[in-house]
Amino acid sequence: MPEVSRQTAQDSGVAAFRKQFPIFDQKIYLSSCSQGALSRPVEAAMQEFLESWHTHGNPWEIWVGRMEELRVEFARLINAEPAEVAVTFSVSTALNSLASALTYNDRPKIVTSDFDFPTVGHIWLAQQRRGAEVAFAGANGNRLPLRAFEELVDERTALVSTTQVCYKNGFKNNISALAELAHERGASLLIDAYQCMGTQPMDVKALDLDILVTGALKYLLGSPGVAFMYMRKDMIERFQPSDSGWFGQENVFAYDVHHLRYAASARRFETGSPPVPNVYTSLAALRLLAGVGLDVIQAHVQALAGRFIDGARGRRLALLTPEEPADRGPLVMVRSTDAPRLVEALAKQGILCSTRDGSLRVSLHYYNTEGDVDMVLAALDHYPDLLVHAPN
Ligand SMILES: Cc1ncc(COP(=O)(O)O)c(C=O)c1O
Repeated sequence: MPEVSRQTAQDSGVAAFRKQFPIFDQKIYLSSCSQGALSRPVEAAMQEFLESWHTHGNPWEIWVGRMEELRVEFARLINAEPAEVAVTFSVSTALNSLASALTYNDRPKIVTSDFDFPTVGHIWLAQQRRGAEVAFAGANGNRLPLRAFEELVDERTALVSTTQVCYKNGFKNNISALAELAHERGASLLIDAYQCMGTQPMDVKALDLDILVTGALKYLLGSPGVAFMYMRKDMIERFQPSDSGWFGQENVFAYDVHHLRYAASARRFETGSPPVPNVYTSLAALRLLAGVGLDVIQAHVQALAGRFIDGARGRRLALLTPEEPADRGPLVMVRSTDAPRLVEALAKQGILCSTRDGSLRVSLHYYNTEGDVDMVLAALDHYPDLLVHAPN
């Protein structure tokens, strides 16, 4: 396709997608790093759940069937088999179930990083009571060099557990290099893709990942209450989580209180009754994204992030996020002298952003446009005192 027609097709794809998110009738939404915007299909899915409840009272067969559809849809999105996917309530519940199954004997060490979301650190630190030794790969400014992992991952390391994109500066780890490093030293690699899943293709096989966790509520555009954990098939039966429950059993509806029989699949990391309303919404959200294609979404998001970075650089704003496309995801951050005030001032103009660690977070998705980027940049021009400027 010639360049001009490709651009036009892409613009109309974005416009049609954006139309399904009513918030854009009133606001410029740049906060998917916190919560994805609500779409009409997701709203309709919630309504469908309510109708099923009204109509059938307790249609658990339908609801559990929906959960299995969600498992299949997520597996397809990451090029996994459904049996390799656990559907959980949050990333934290998935990690806790996994952590409860580790023995910390020959390989007691867990390597995580300064750039991981706090819940990841908390969960591994809590395992110290059970024998875990936790080490943090240290940041160098706004980057997490591979060297920091190389120094820590050794023959006593069971797991490297780290983020793909950092929630507080947008830095993106090279996860293929991490997989190579972990495997070379006999450790497994767990990637937390929460801050980018939904804005880029994810192929767990091609990337040679052992475990992947992410949740539905951010760039996957679902509601809170659903998360996913992928585990490579041949690893699953090694783990016997003590953090367990009836939905993790081989036959959920056997009602056998006397015996513990873990599911052979990744479902063994599930615990209690599924969060059905959120299963409905997440399924609709994943289908919405699959309808566009994660490669198409990535090209758009990368271009918008690049445009924001160019604009910020032109204004001499101090960026926290690396400028090279390979080192960043959908989140770009600039330093502020008073980020909560800046976020509030932007909100008054109908521009919704967020803040972490005293900086402004601007996050981009397929529903955003060049116009959104230009609007937020133009709005920032009104608040020079709330922004940190880079030296000349
Ligand atoms: C990278 C990352 N991991 C994990 C979480 C939290 O996961 P959960 O609340 O599902 O346990 C967040 C939430 O913002 C996050 O950004």
